Amino acid sequence: MNRTTLAIGIALALVAGGALAHSGVKNATVLARMELMKDMGRQMKVLGRMDKGFINFDAGAVQVAVARIAVLAEKTPTLFEAPAQDPNSEALPVIWDDFSTFAQEAQALEMVTARLTIVQQIDLHPALKQLGAACKSCHGRFRK
Ligand code: HEC
Repeated sequence: MNRTTLAIGIALALVAGGALAHSGVKNATVLARMELMKDMGRQMKVLGRMDKGFINFDAGAVQVAVARIAVLAEKTPTLFEAPAQDPNSEALPVIWDDFSTFAQEAQALEMVTARLTIVQQIDLHPALKQLGAACKSCHGRFRK
């Protein structure tokens, strides 16, 4: 390998590492639950960007994002049920010592989504606070 190909190889490795933090995760169960959580983050980002005025308020897009969070919350207990481990996972083992509380945290998030009324831009901020509190409540106890 000459010096140029080596440099290209290193550059590609750096790009891949930055773009795909999950690329090192080999366990399919762990990968699926990380992807689910990443999707949660994506939906919150849509709502957050609208709240900050980076994108225009769009009631339809809000509904899609909130409905997606509800579906993901509903799926959470199923995807985390198996105590799969991976060095890159941020899941704490206490999830499987106290799975019923973990499942309740997911249900609590789902219930928040059901209670939200977002009809205009100013409704987004309090809604995000409630959603964020539900995410944090679970992360605080069950995530590294
Ligand atoms: C019932 C518990 C629970 C709830 C509720 C929850 N999370 Fe998580 N979340 C976790 C756990 C556990 C992990 C670590 C998973 C792993 O690494 O194996 C995680 C990981 C994540 C990650 C990192 C994913 C990655 O790239 O590896 C993001 C982003 C995230 N959650 C966002 C959210 C958002 C946003 C919400 C609320 C809308 C939320 N989560 C609600 C338990 C929860």
